[in-house]
Amino acid sequence: MSNIIETIAPHGGHLVNRVATPAERDEFMAQADSLPRIELDDRALSDLVMIAIGGFSPLNGFMAQDDYERVVEEMRLMNGLPWAVPVTLSVSAEVAEPLKEGSWVRLDDHTGRFVGVLELTQKYRYNKTHEAVNVYRTDEEKHPGVKVVYEQGEINLAGPIWLLQRDDHPYFPKYQIDPAESRKMFVERGWKTVVGFQTRNPIHRAHEYIIKCALEIVDGLFLHPLVGATKSDDIPADVRMRCYEIMVDNYFPQNRVILAINPSAMRYAGPREAIFHALIRKNYGCTHFIVGRDHAGVGDYYGTYDAQHIFDEFKPEELGITPLKFEHAFYCTRTNQMATSKTSPATKEERIHLSGTKVREMLRRGELPPPEFSRPKVAAELAKAMHQ
Ligand code: ADX
Repeated sequence: MSNIIETIAPHGGHLVNRVATPAERDEFMAQADSLPRIELDDRALSDLVMIAIGGFSPLNGFMAQDDYERVVEEMRLMNGLPWAVPVTLSVSAEVAEPLKEGSWVRLDDHTGRFVGVLELTQKYRYNKTHEAVNVYRTDEEKHPGVKVVYEQGEINLAGPIWLLQRDDHPYFPKYQIDPAESRKMFVERGWKTVVGFQTRNPIHRAHEYIIKCALEIVDGLFLHPLVGATKSDDIPADVRMRCYEIMVDNYFPQNRVILAINPSAMRYAGPREAIFHALIRKNYGCTHFIVGRDHAGVGDYYGTYDAQHIFDEFKPEELGITPLKFEHAFYCTRTNQMATSKTSPATKEERIHLSGTKVREMLRRGELPPPEFSRPKVAAELAKAMHQ
């Protein structure tokens, strides 16, 4: 019997696995003291993990110059596959200088633990402003994604990697589900169509609404909050995870949802990141991906629906995952339900919608967001976390 899920190929057709085997690990560990070392920041560490577990398939390492440049210019890898965001390992010229192309480099986490190996195939300079303008659509340093690019080193180190060890997630190890496992889980549940949901914010009713609209037309939901590095004023991942748990436990049919963490770091690249986010979920086995208003946006850098329009720049079969696009959702006081302008005649005054910033301000003042915006149990959890 054919099962559609088994035919949802990872991006590039093959799920990358760069987790070192025990034998490889022993071989690398034996050389631990003789290899040159680099300390990874949070983003590079999460990129290392994502590459290794296949979340960034077909990447098997940090990007070489030709892939990097084509991605920045044309949103494609050298082999022509769509890819929207650079995945690079940047170091200062002083750090790069003694490293020899063709040699192994030891990758350490911030505690000095040996977590991975880079087979250094290339060192190259790159143009930060060019990357910023193309990928982030701005050269302003106050954009959090651009800021990271400007602050990182001026040399990219490229080459295949191996992951030697990684920690269980400190708060939610049971939600650490890698692409090979999520694919298996979807098949076990008999889900032929699965929608992936990216989020970096505490779940609110507009999220719930668009997720549930999607669930009406697919078999299962892969609720996949990002828990890698985010900007400092975003709500911490452990608080958000408790909110998602409350949501799933109280307001969703348990057998239609899998909650799992996405270890990658936020780029805030808006439209380009929407493509990146969709391809990651394809690698996890999703057939559909939700793109709402200002997906992965920040400030006023992107138009409300730019992250939806960008999907039109690719042929559907090149992406291999179907975007489900939703308009700005709000609570409509005329019809007393969640809605969008597609389904409600509400005037501006009849719409209840709060920005993340407004919600944070309310919580800081000790006020709870209204039930039209946030489920009360979720609001209570947020308030508790705010005052700990
Ligand atoms: S994001 O950076 O991960 O995109 P967020 O967690 O706020 O931020 O959004 C998760 C998803 O929900 C994105 O696809 C976003 O476009 C969508 N979304 C958030 N709020 C709304 C809303 N009010 N109406 C429609 N879509 C929304």
